[in-house]
Amino acid sequence: MSCSSCIGISTMKPCCRILVGSKTRSFFGFSPPKLNDSIFENLSKPQSRSAAGGRMDGSNSQIVGYICVTGPNRRAFSDSGWNWSQSRVFRRNYVGIRGNSCSNNGSNSWRRRRRRRVLVVRNVASDFRNHSTSVEANVNEKSFQRIYVQGGLNVKPLVIERIETGPNDVVKEEESFRIDEVNGSNVNIDSCKGLNETKVEKEVSKNEEEAWKLLWDSVVTYCGSPVGTVAANDPADKQPLNYDQVFIRDFIPSALAFLLNGEPEIVKNFLLHTLQLQSWEKTVDCYSPGQGLMPASFKVRTLPLDGSEGAFEEVLDPDFGESAIGRVAPVDSGLWWIILLRAYGKITGDYALQERVDVQTGIRLILNLCLTDGFDMFPTLLVTDGSCMIDRRMGIHGHPLEIQALFYSALRCSREMLIVNDNTKNLVAAINNRLSALSFHIREYYWVDMKKINEIYRYKTEEYSTDAINKFNIYPDQIPSWLVDWFPEEGGYLIGNLQPAHMDFRFFTLGNLWAIVSSLGTQKQNEGILNLIENKWDDLVAQMPLKICYPALDHEEWRIITGADPKNTPWSYHNGGSWPTLLWQFTLACIKMGRPELARKAIDVAEKRLAEDQWPEYYDTRSGRFIGKQARLFQTWTIAGFLASKMLLENPEKASLLFWEEDYELLETCVCALSKTGRRKCSRSASKSQILV
Ligand code: GLC
Repeated sequence: MSCSSCIGISTMKPCCRILVGSKTRSFFGFSPPKLNDSIFENLSKPQSRSAAGGRMDGSNSQIVGYICVTGPNRRAFSDSGWNWSQSRVFRRNYVGIRGNSCSNNGSNSWRRRRRRRVLVVRNVASDFRNHSTSVEANVNEKSFQRIYVQGGLNVKPLVIERIETGPNDVVKEEESFRIDEVNGSNVNIDSCKGLNETKVEKEVSKNEEEAWKLLWDSVVTYCGSPVGTVAANDPADKQPLNYDQVFIRDFIPSALAFLLNGEPEIVKNFLLHTLQLQSWEKTVDCYSPGQGLMPASFKVRTLPLDGSEGAFEEVLDPDFGESAIGRVAPVDSGLWWIILLRAYGKITGDYALQERVDVQTGIRLILNLCLTDGFDMFPTLLVTDGSCMIDRRMGIHGHPLEIQALFYSALRCSREMLIVNDNTKNLVAAINNRLSALSFHIREYYWVDMKKINEIYRYKTEEYSTDAINKFNIYPDQIPSWLVDWFPEEGGYLIGNLQPAHMDFRFFTLGNLWAIVSSLGTQKQNEGILNLIENKWDDLVAQMPLKICYPALDHEEWRIITGADPKNTPWSYHNGGSWPTLLWQFTLACIKMGRPELARKAIDVAEKRLAEDQWPEYYDTRSGRFIGKQARLFQTWTIAGFLASKMLLENPEKASLLFWEEDYELLETCVCALSKTGRRKCSRSASKSQILV
């Protein structure tokens, strides 16, 4: 089948079109000029991108458009005689690729290559950055051709924006420019040189060996290159629904396992391909969600190639929520993408990837979506139900902790990765402000321990004034009875959600773990969270780590809050089910807090059952005793989460690249902002004493 083009299907508009949708127009606040083919032809020429050095001059800056390769263009490249199977990278890594077709041999060879390895290699290179070389520097005609020839979708829709700048509007950047500069699907193996040069082989347990085999089997290839892992790979499953797709969030533990094992190629491909999907125009009925949205998942489909008898092409088909059950928006996808991008740089030392113009633009588009001014009174991100790992109705709409913790982490990542210049300085300032405000808000209002619960219990209500103690008008009666008995003397946690007159006191594991990892919580709070997990081990870990949330909703609450969802019955699935994939995030949090033994204990619990139970997606019952009612088997993020946990424990120095310590500069910004309202004194020492540290 030919890889000469990759177009979108379903409700996505094909990439290979010029798209100037109404949403795009209104987003940028002006109508684009009528564009003709020659404009696009010019824009598509590589020199127009490189000459601009990632920026357009004023005359072009009013143009908004997407440029893609149309049929003739595609053919022109495939017929050009440039034989991509001769590519150094492909020749080296993929056997069985013939001429301009990318038969399945390519993907199979990738698997075979991996399967031959019984021992897992551990990387011991320390100074990755010194080994990093950048192919990006060698942009030339040939590498540009590769974009078209090796994977048509790599021709990223071109977006040239000219947006009015308002004082408070971070969306309105002066200009931005995005284009795929070089070989998107072509892995820059050289940039990872060194990674594979100093490997030591390590014996792994039988379970790990099986897990590696399964992980490699779950790899999805696109035009011969590995681009992700399917959500579940159960050969006996007759109805895989969308579990045969690559989910952004599910791929994170796979990516970490590959990175920690010195195999960055698949991660780089994943980052670049999902980046390309980001800029597609997407519609749900007549409405288009925001431009920076990342899909929840994508699938590689094989379709007959138009006009070529017997030939096939592979296409990437993303799902932005328009096919998902409940049409849920994957708010967490973009946040995870940013977090993974940073992790990739940190672990491989290939910082050139995050510095690419198109990657920088991708980060900015995601942030623009998150930082757009709205009606919010709080710095937390307002989302609908089901916008994250819990992707069904579970009463987490509003300001769920999971999204806030990932948002905070993504902001911290972006702050490190964004190149600061005249065009980004407003955005960077907005990031800093938001980080400060967000950590203050979460630390102050989401944190509960015995003392705080007792305060809430004695709250006065209906206070009107800026000095109100009970700012959100929480009625003490909403403290649930389970909490009163359950709360340990030591420790505490961040509640699930906060809205006017509403505190969701459920314990949500992922959000609390990411609060630790990103230092969204204070040092004391982070310690308190781990203490609570240890203290409540039988409720939160029991026979399978870890409960997604605690406790389960039942009876009327279940009926009203989940909408009587039969998949989310009490102690099942998202409603108090146990998810082994949370193990790697727990491990990371434990390593950060200097408590690896706690992680080891949880991993031991999991290891006793996972392989024997065929790596289920989740477990049911209060103690996690049963394999989940509708759990998929051979669930990839269960497998990868287990492997990543083991590897993180063995490589604490690598693990330390993935978390953050307290940032006092951010605290200072917050204290200074509060001092303007006359409530706090502005100084670094004040920040230490006044903000929860
Ligand atoms: C389920 C989970 C979601 C996961 C997906 C694929 O929908 O709720 O978090 O990403 O399956 O595994």
